[in-house]
Amino acid sequence: MLLRRLGWAGVASLLPASFAGFVRFLFPRALFEPEPVFRAGQREDYPLGTVSERFRRERGVWIVHDGGGIYALVARCTHLGCTPYWLEAEGKFKCPCHGSGFTRDGVNFEGPAPRPLERAKVGLDENGELVVDLSVRFRAEKGEWGRPGSYVEAAG
Ligand code: FES
Repeated sequence: MLLRRLGWAGVASLLPASFAGFVRFLFPRALFEPEPVFRAGQREDYPLGTVSERFRRERGVWIVHDGGGIYALVARCTHLGCTPYWLEAEGKFKCPCHGSGFTRDGVNFEGPAPRPLERAKVGLDENGELVVDLSVRFRAEKGEWGRPGSYVEAAG
């Protein structure tokens, strides 16, 4: 019935749309994000006083070791979400978008950022390896930076 009404030319004109639908079926618009939990090595990999950029690009965190322990600072500006840079010589994080600055431990001190950077959950696995969970965050202004999971003690 449909063939009779459209004719072969009509059916042929539907083929590109059908083929496009088939291709779209093969390649769905899915966003593949990495797992939020990852291993970050041993605590000894992060000497006291360092800001490690090892996971900034891939995972969006710095691993910081200071007097407060070892923690994972989320590399997302609390103003509008740009990625700050770590400036080793100046000992601070600087956001390239509107100039916010953050101290080594993530506290905002200049520019429009309204609050400190967030920390991701950190822990140790059965082998003593650091495990970071990006799905759990700790915020300084809520008094969460001292909570279990917001940092780990340095080794030995
Ligand atoms: Fe960082 Fe605006 S997004 S200062």
